[in-house]
Amino acid sequence: MLNLSGKVALVTGSTRGIGRATAEKLAEAGATVIITGRSEDRAVEVAKEIREKTGSETFAVGMDIGVKESVEGAFKRITDRFGGVDILVNNAGMNRDTLFVRMKLEDWEEIIRVNLTGTFLVTQLSVKGMMKKRWGRIINMSSVVAFIGNVGQANYSSAKAGLIGFTKTLAKELASRNITVNAVAPGFIETDMTEDLPEDIKQGFLNQIPMNRFGKPEDVANVVLFLASDMAGYITGEVIHVNGGLF
Ligand SMILES: NC(=O)c1ccc[n+]([C@@H]2O[C@H](COP(=O)([O-])OP(=O)(O)OC[C@H]3O[C@@H](n4cnc5c(N)ncnc54)[C@H](OP(=O)(O)O)[C@@H]3O)[C@@H](O)[C@H]2O)c1
Repeated sequence: MLNLSGKVALVTGSTRGIGRATAEKLAEAGATVIITGRSEDRAVEVAKEIREKTGSETFAVGMDIGVKESVEGAFKRITDRFGGVDILVNNAGMNRDTLFVRMKLEDWEEIIRVNLTGTFLVTQLSVKGMMKKRWGRIINMSSVVAFIGNVGQANYSSAKAGLIGFTKTLAKELASRNITVNAVAPGFIETDMTEDLPEDIKQGFLNQIPMNRFGKPEDVANVVLFLASDMAGYITGEVIHVNGGLF
């Protein structure tokens, strides 16, 4: 089993879905895990559940990654408590799908702001502590749609593709400080984000997945755990696809 005891891991958007599964895996491996989401109350509940299940220390903080002041406020509390973070999983994300011809500027800006600028904000506040410690892991949650596109997701696929350039650039800038920066690109994973899609759209995706099933949050969390561990210490600037063969 991978051992992350002594490490502090911040997982953005860990109140549900992939982020929650990831937080749980990291806690099972012994990391202290910081649970975040826009609702602090929900984060507190999830942090309690994970602490009871895994025995690892958890900490909850409300943070909207799309709002600079909110990220700064949350970070002040995190650094007061832990000094900094060793492992950062930039998982929080959202979509607002509509065909490009009908897409409003607000739909574009909101999705770029949360998925891409939010990742910039959280990473910038996390990285200085990692540089001082000369150890760090940054894992960015991209998506298969960054590579293959998807009808109705010009905004979301652009933000997720932006995260790939961000990952590869930071990997180069931070390698000499022993900080690795990688991305995970999930395919279709069963979470709140995909739950409400119409059945015919879901079936259309399923027909394209050679493994003939949708992914589970744990399928993605396992890869994040590996990338966060010492076993992945010589992997940086990489994208790992988790999509059952879809791409
Ligand atoms: N599900 C998929 O098929 C799939 C595929 C490829 C990539 N992804 C990516 O994987 C990541 C997780 O997706 P998921 O399916 O697990 O999504 P989800 O079930 O909708 O959960 C999203 C999480 O992000 C948080 N969040 C949303 N907006 C936020 C904001 N502005 N600031 C802070 N936290 C925010 C949510 O918490 P609150 O609501 O409490 O804020 C929640 O914890 C996302 O980046 C998504 O784009 C998902």
